[in-house]
Amino acid sequence: MIGRTEEYEKMFRLEGQLWWYRSLHERVDTALQQQFGQRRDMAILDAGCGTGGLLDFLRRRGYTNLRGLDGSADAVAFCQQRELPVTLVNLKDLAGFEPAVQYDIIVCNDVFCYFTEADLPLLVTALSDRLKPGGVLVCNNNAFDLFRGEHDVAVGIIRRFVRADFECLLPQHGLSIQSATYWSFVLSPLILLIRQWQRLQLALGWHSSDKAQSDVYLPSHWINETLYQAVRTERAILPRTPFGSSLFIVSKKL
Ligand SMILES: C[S@@+](CC[C@H](N)C(=O)[O-])C[C@H]1O[C@@H](n2cnc3c(N)ncnc32)[C@H](O)[C@@H]1O
Repeated sequence: MIGRTEEYEKMFRLEGQLWWYRSLHERVDTALQQQFGQRRDMAILDAGCGTGGLLDFLRRRGYTNLRGLDGSADAVAFCQQRELPVTLVNLKDLAGFEPAVQYDIIVCNDVFCYFTEADLPLLVTALSDRLKPGGVLVCNNNAFDLFRGEHDVAVGIIRRFVRADFECLLPQHGLSIQSATYWSFVLSPLILLIRQWQRLQLALGWHSSDKAQSDVYLPSHWINETLYQAVRTERAILPRTPFGSSLFIVSKKL
């Protein structure tokens, strides 16, 4: 994804409106409240913060101690437009960046999918080292290979995950899973159908992978609101679901 300026431009323009980002940001806020109650002064790091949509959302919700890192100069430039405290850092070098600073919360949404099997444990070690004792790692991840589609090709996703991957990985780094859920369950048949159709088109050569487009586009207002409300209702009624294209995990440093 790094280097694809047009993807960062779309993210920056749409993340405040698009149902998927809104749902994810609210999910993060709920997780923070479940762990820290009404406190708003916890030290929060968004590792791989993209164009700063989550940090901007948390700032508007009253969180006061925010920091972001990203490895894309485009992403950092967009964050700077929002006057967010974000630094250009390759997360592969996180261990050497401000090693004495620790956080109450680290959010790392949709970043693990860019790390190989060999590099991911090193990243998780570095993130765990940056958490204070009792600190919380919140991460959202692309789930199930079945959902691989044009979006994955467009933004260079190299892997998808299942819950068992984290049940194995996180405890090895002193992180205990507090909650884990796939989402969105209700929308998964629709998303699956679209992704499988995209895969067929790519396989048959009807779509070229060079021209693959990400899912970051704004549908009509009523479709966007319907999808947002569907996910919101699901989250209220079914806080844990067994299937979906994303996997949201909250873990705690022991
Ligand atoms: C799919 S975007 C997610 C952005 C943001 N976390 C969000 O939820 O909107 C992945 C982000 O990870 C960043 N990223 C990928 N590999 C990275 C690395 N090695 N170091 C730092 N950032 C990286 C990309 O630049 C991009 O901003």
